[in-house]
Amino acid sequence: MNVCRINQVLKEKKAGTEATVRGWVRTFRSNRFIALNDGSTVLNLQCVVDFENFDESILKKITTGACIEVSGDIVTSQGKGQDIELVVRKIIVHGASDPEQYPLQPKKHSMEFLREIAHLRPRTQTFGAVFRLRHQLSFAIHQYFHENGFYNVHTPILTGSDAEGAGEMFQVSTLDKKNIPLTPEGEVDYKQDFFEKEVNLTVSGQLEAELFALGLGKVYTFGPTFRAENSNTSRHLAEFWMIEPEVAFADLDQNMDLAEHFLRSVIQNVLKNCPDDLEFLSNRLEAEEKGLPADKRSPMSLLDKLNFVAENGFRRVSYTEAIDILRNSKPNKKKKFQYPIEEWGADLQSEHERFLVEKHFKCPVILYDYPASIKAFYMRLNDDGKTVRAMDVLFPGIGEIIGGSQREERYEVLRQKMADFNIPEEELYWYLETRKFGTCVHSGFGLGFERLVQFVTGMSNIRDVIPFPRTPGNCAF
Ligand code: 4AD
Ligand code: MG
Repeated sequence: MNVCRINQVLKEKKAGTEATVRGWVRTFRSNRFIALNDGSTVLNLQCVVDFENFDESILKKITTGACIEVSGDIVTSQGKGQDIELVVRKIIVHGASDPEQYPLQPKKHSMEFLREIAHLRPRTQTFGAVFRLRHQLSFAIHQYFHENGFYNVHTPILTGSDAEGAGEMFQVSTLDKKNIPLTPEGEVDYKQDFFEKEVNLTVSGQLEAELFALGLGKVYTFGPTFRAENSNTSRHLAEFWMIEPEVAFADLDQNMDLAEHFLRSVIQNVLKNCPDDLEFLSNRLEAEEKGLPADKRSPMSLLDKLNFVAENGFRRVSYTEAIDILRNSKPNKKKKFQYPIEEWGADLQSEHERFLVEKHFKCPVILYDYPASIKAFYMRLNDDGKTVRAMDVLFPGIGEIIGGSQREERYEVLRQKMADFNIPEEELYWYLETRKFGTCVHSGFGLGFERLVQFVTGMSNIRDVIPFPRTPGNCAF
């Protein structure tokens, strides 16, 4: 038996050879043409059945959703749409599927409906393409760092420090919720909990990655992160994956160079390795946007946009310049922003980020040197005393895709910053010690993996680029 994946058959097999393939039936037309898909490609293999050679009882089981195995001869296709097809000699039905009950019909389903049947959506063309791309991106990221001398560090998922301040945390506890032990002061007595202290799911691996960068030189993490923010947007998840490189001896300019080179390289990688899936998703997006008014449609096709980002540099703009542009922008003057920009120091919302990227610069933008007051304690203070060496990479259609900074490496300045942010020293003594013992300039950033997958696939909702999304009120599957 010569079992093949369908991508292999379509690429390598010539008329006159034999093949066995197994997969799920997409459609069965005219009791004769099976469109079979096995997840290895967005393309189906057309399998032609001569019904006179098969039992009625077998043919009845070939319905949309059934899992079958077919063997036969590869021939040049007579029909349009494919070069070759398989003339079926033998059929094995691995799993029949009642067509009356099967929720995935060969018609267009809404993304909302498919989220409700997330256990079956991997069998659709769109989700097959999205998750093959998600895999390729993940692989490309590891490859990029490996080839550039970075070591992958597995930072902890359970964390005993809650000082990063990147977001609200999920607590992990084995205390009996009906009988929570209290201290004499009436507080929860975590001494009696599993870890004998308060423990949460991590919001970022950065602080631990820094410790490793100050020993191994160049490291990165790629792991799940958890944020209990009540954000019901198309770009927020409660559980998402983040990539965090951290580099000793790199300043902010080198950090920006890395972010840009890295993003462009992984996008080039998928353009090269996933042309069929990207073409399918590009056409899908175009069809999806056809009904929209012109100003709501993407100015470029998905493929053109990816090529544009892969080939062109990002614009680097200071926060101060960005505020000037925003303050004088049409939507600000016409009060079109939900959060009007009045003065220096304002935090930027996604509406502002998207204006800068999509309307003003029309290319990816890196904003840097933000006010210290709106950024985390660990970012390096500039000589002006009021801005920090922070950077955010902003992408069209997405907004912030990367957040990072040069880190404060000066012991006394960091201690002062922690005091200003009310972070107890005993909580982060280990972080401070790296500044006491052999400190150096270093920088890093965090890339939201799902936001990158969104950008590359053109999916408008982040819930459709992670297998099983976790959002406020939803932890199904
Ligand atoms: O900007 P953030 O909060 O940065 C950090 O956590 C730093 N410790 C990173 C570092 O310097 N090592 O998050 C980084 C990125 C954001 O730019 C965004 O792409 C993504 O993580 N992100 C989310 N993605 C999905 N759902 C959420 N709730 C997200 N919050 C942040
Ligand atoms: Mg951020």
